Amino acid sequence: MYRKILLTAVAVIMWLGAYAGEGMWLPLLIEKYNIDEMHAKGFKLSAEDIYSINKASMKDAVMIFGGGCTGELISDKGLLITNHHCGYPQIQSHSSVEHDYLTDGFWAMSADEELPNQGLKVTFLKRMEDVTIRVLNGVTDDMNMNERKAAISKNIAKIMEEAVEGTHYSGLVESFYYGNQYFLFVNEVFSDVRLVGAPPSSIGKFGGDSDNWTWPRHTGDFSLFRIYANKNNEPAEYSAENVPYRPAAHFPISLKGIEEGDFTMVFGYPGNTSEYAPSFHIEMLANFIYPKLVDIRTAKLNVMNRYMAADRGVRIQYASKNASIANAWKRWKGEIRGLAKMDVVSTKQAYEKRFDEWVNSSDDRKAKFGNIISDYENIYADYSQYRLVRDYLNEYIGGLGLETICISRRFERLLALYGDSNHDSETISTIKAMTEAQLQMHFKNLHLPLDKETATVVLEMLYQNIPSAFFPDITENINNKYKGNISKYIDEVYAKTFFISQQATLAFLNGFNSGSVKKLNSDPAYQLYKSLTDVYQQKVLPRYNELQNRLDSLNRIYMAALMQFDNERTFYPDANFTLRVAYGDVRGYEAGDAVRFLHFTTLEGIMQKENPDIYDYHVPERLKQLHAAKDYGRYELNGTIPVAFTATNHTTGGNSGSPILNARGELIGVNFDRAWEGVMSDLMFNPDQSRNISIDIRYALFIIDKYANAGYLLDEMTIVE
Ligand code: ARG
Ligand code: ASP
Repeated sequence: MYRKILLTAVAVIMWLGAYAGEGMWLPLLIEKYNIDEMHAKGFKLSAEDIYSINKASMKDAVMIFGGGCTGELISDKGLLITNHHCGYPQIQSHSSVEHDYLTDGFWAMSADEELPNQGLKVTFLKRMEDVTIRVLNGVTDDMNMNERKAAISKNIAKIMEEAVEGTHYSGLVESFYYGNQYFLFVNEVFSDVRLVGAPPSSIGKFGGDSDNWTWPRHTGDFSLFRIYANKNNEPAEYSAENVPYRPAAHFPISLKGIEEGDFTMVFGYPGNTSEYAPSFHIEMLANFIYPKLVDIRTAKLNVMNRYMAADRGVRIQYASKNASIANAWKRWKGEIRGLAKMDVVSTKQAYEKRFDEWVNSSDDRKAKFGNIISDYENIYADYSQYRLVRDYLNEYIGGLGLETICISRRFERLLALYGDSNHDSETISTIKAMTEAQLQMHFKNLHLPLDKETATVVLEMLYQNIPSAFFPDITENINNKYKGNISKYIDEVYAKTFFISQQATLAFLNGFNSGSVKKLNSDPAYQLYKSLTDVYQQKVLPRYNELQNRLDSLNRIYMAALMQFDNERTFYPDANFTLRVAYGDVRGYEAGDAVRFLHFTTLEGIMQKENPDIYDYHVPERLKQLHAAKDYGRYELNGTIPVAFTATNHTTGGNSGSPILNARGELIGVNFDRAWEGVMSDLMFNPDQSRNISIDIRYALFIIDKYANAGYLLDEMTIVE
């Protein structure tokens, strides 16, 4: 008991201080808040070198890659590097049995071998600006949530329009500190981005899901692309006439290596954090939502892994689905563990108690903030239930691993079009073509026994875990006709639905007309899907959204109050997929009693992990030869090759592919993951154990140069030896 109180007190003090690594800072405000500390830690450049609108700066070399990753330029000819797992969809889309780039890797040996990628975009920030005053113009405290939202949206629309008028740029206004501050972002988006190189999965995904979220790590998680522009160096759709983009800046690459304690900076696009959430939020996630989501995904993975282990074909079919189910599943487990070990709920409760004391010591504050904590408590009591049901239903109707039930949603747009009497036939044929492509892909990657078993197991869990008020209408039928036996019911669904047959489904698509609606409505797989979606739309979302609105508004007031209460502290805004700077140093950590991790791994570790019986630990023959011959060239370090390293930079999902830079702004690595003991950093950063993981740039160059013999690519890079 005593010990616990003491620990909590220490934790509170720790949490309140500013310490190494924590924080994701706005590039525009580095000069104001961070540059002195960065210099003290060894950074040699200026804030203007990071972000400037007057001269070329680092920001001109960093981009959003695709929809959820970061990438960076490494040559003046538009060459960029990001993670293998970020380029995975593109690498996969070019792969076939004859050209299996996932298994064998891909290297363009000249410009005309580079592969275009439909739909892939990269986004550069041109400038950002604080537009809070304009966004909140006319917004008053007595407005209700909907009035407030409407006024803000109107102001934002105007700001965005003005910002990009007469340019080819796009504008975006994002909220910070829960609506207490707003920034405008003006972006330039390129859409001709070609695949240049990718190592085989046995390098780019070495360690697979076994090693995911852990350290020590040996994954060569990188891939190379090139941005093309028109003759004026402006964005253009793919064309053979396009030329390599000539950027204002690209990162030099350092071969000088790293030492523990060296300054590091990560410059990229972190997606989502909730560092200021109240204790109730943490309690909801750690004790209520995450454990149940972990269970449901464990059940899915158990079925999937069994079928995948038994059949090579199934393993290929489900590789990417498995990775996406397993990634969040494993992170949730790490977060639950980390939050408990750090005692985050008690720490936050103690903080909230002090906050309330501060509030109650002034009448003015009492009037303004007196109900915040109790309001949170009330809202979360209700919100948690709706959030659970929402997330649980999503595990079903989201379709991951049980696609036959959900494939009918591919017909929703056609359904809607036919419901609209003046539908035009051109739109319909475009949608049909798109749907056909999706269906082909669906059947290519479908193993029916796996799919059916998952549909059964997950439906059983759904009934055990959500309150009966949210049971779908179909329940009555299941109870009456099948005496509640889910397995019998699902057997019958799969026996009767035409969606199990590729031929029947494609025929249904191609002959789709107003009469098809009836056929769809009488299909048992569609009936189940529809029944669950109805609960979701009608019984869950309206109330969920209402509670979420109330939380949004409470969060805004709480955040503003915290900034007054804790006025010594510099608050960094939660991640929202805008460009941020994180800085810290190269550092290992203590993982537990007697376990101390070094900050770097080497090729020796790959050879130690090698296991021909475990897919995740296959090592390609050529890499073994290079290792045996010690053919390391200039990438060698103490008789081996450095592979990955950890540092104290605060990162999250979206930071994958981010440049990790040394004190001189040179590229030393590419960020790709975080270490197990510290993954709760989205909710609370632990300076002792929260670590980002990067591939050492020397390993990437070694693979390009020695493994792939694509050394010609190095000629266009700026390499600092
Ligand atoms: N955990 C990393 C991230 O969140 C890497 C995921 C890709 N790797 C994998 N084995 N699934 O994206
Ligand atoms: N692996 C993550 C990503 O893809 C990075 C992280 O969560 O640390 O963005």
